[in-house]
Amino acid sequence: MCSDAHFYVRIETFVDVLTALSNKNDYSRNQLQMIVGAWVLSGLAEKKSKISLSDGDVSEDDYDKKSLYALLYALYRSMGEVRDEHGERYEFTFNTWGYAWPEAWGPAPTTSRDPQRYGRNAYTGLYHFDAVKKYVADRDGKVHIVEMGCGTGAGAHQVCANVLKQCTYEAVDMQRAAIATCNRKFVPTLNGRLKATCSDATQLARPGGSADFVAVNETHVTEITGVVTEEDERFFKKAHQMLKVNGHIVWGNAIPDPTWKACYAYLESIGFAVREECDVTEEAVRARDEDKRRIDVYVDQCMEAFPAFRIPVLGARKRAEAEVALKNFARNPNTRLYQNMVDGTDTYKVVLLEKTR
Ligand SMILES: C[S@@+](CC[C@H](N)C(=O)[O-])C[C@H]1O[C@@H](n2cnc3c(N)ncnc32)[C@H](O)[C@@H]1O
Repeated sequence: MCSDAHFYVRIETFVDVLTALSNKNDYSRNQLQMIVGAWVLSGLAEKKSKISLSDGDVSEDDYDKKSLYALLYALYRSMGEVRDEHGERYEFTFNTWGYAWPEAWGPAPTTSRDPQRYGRNAYTGLYHFDAVKKYVADRDGKVHIVEMGCGTGAGAHQVCANVLKQCTYEAVDMQRAAIATCNRKFVPTLNGRLKATCSDATQLARPGGSADFVAVNETHVTEITGVVTEEDERFFKKAHQMLKVNGHIVWGNAIPDPTWKACYAYLESIGFAVREECDVTEEAVRARDEDKRRIDVYVDQCMEAFPAFRIPVLGARKRAEAEVALKNFARNPNTRLYQNMVDGTDTYKVVLLEKTR
C-alpha cells in the first residue's frame, strides 16, 4: 500500500482514474474516496468524457489496463461483503463474465443461487475436456498449474477446492490489490497448495518445463482485432517455457473473433497444437442476461458508498459515467461489450492447447 504522504503529493494526478493509478498500490478505502472525489471534480475542466454514456464504451487508447484493474480490485476489496439481488451476502471476487454451463458438458458444477456461479463455471470448464481428465488421472491428480492473470484468485480457489483436489497452483497477477485479496481470503484455506504471486506474468522466472497446465481465464491480453501484439507473444512464449512437453494451456475468454485465428497461428508456430475449441458465446450471453440484476444491485451499492457522487451537478454526471462504465466492464445487457457478444464481434471460446515441442 502506498504511504499517505506519497499519496497526497500525487493526488492531483489521479483525476484520470482510467490511466493514472498504479498496479503496484493497494489503495485503501480512504484513498479510494479521495481518488473518486478528485475524479468527480475533474469534471469541471473536462471538455469531453472518455466514457460513452449510451453504452459505457471506452476506447482502447483512452485507458491503461494497469490503472483500470488497480481501481476495480481496490473497489471490490473496499466494498467488502455486499448483497446480491436476493439480499444474500457475498464478497465480489470473480472478475469474470463466465457462462451458463453448457448442457453437453454434463451436470452443472454450480447452483442457481450462487451469486458468482458464472465465474465458477468458467474456471471449472477449463478442465472439462476428456483429454485433461485423462492427463490428470494418469498422474493421480498431482498436477501443477500456473495461472497467468488470476485476479483475486477466486477461480484458483474454485479449482483447488472443487475441481482438481490434489493439484498445486501458482496464481499470478500484476495487480497488488488482487494478490492481497488472494493472500487474505484463499491462500490460508488450502494448506500450502495455493501460492499467490504479484508479477507481470510475462516476466515470471520459473524453471522451464515445471507446469502441467497454464490457465488463462479472461486474462486481459489478446484484445486487438486480428492481431497478436508484442505483449501477447511474450505471454504465450512464457506459457510455452513454463509448460512440460505434452502439458496444456487451458484458455477461456471473450475476445474479438478474428483474434482467435491469429493467436492459433502464432501458438502453432512456437510449438502448440490446438486440441479442442468450444464456442460458448451463447451461454456467455445467457449468463450476462441472468446476472444483470446482481450487477445492477452491486453497482448501486458501489455508487452509494462514495459521497463524492452526491456533489451537486458534477456528482450526478460522474456517477452516470461510473455506473455505465462498471456495467460495460461486466458486459451487462445494453452495453457495448455485451452487444459485441450478441452480434459476434467478440466470441467466447474455451480452448485446449497442447505443447508438442
Ligand atoms: C478480467 S480480469 C480476470 C481476472 C481473473 N482471471 C478472473 O477471471 O476473475 C483480467 C486480469 O488480467 C490481468 N492481467 C492482464 N495482463 C496481465 C499480465 N501481463 N500479467 C499478469 N496479469 C495480467 C489483469 O491484472 C486482470 O486481473
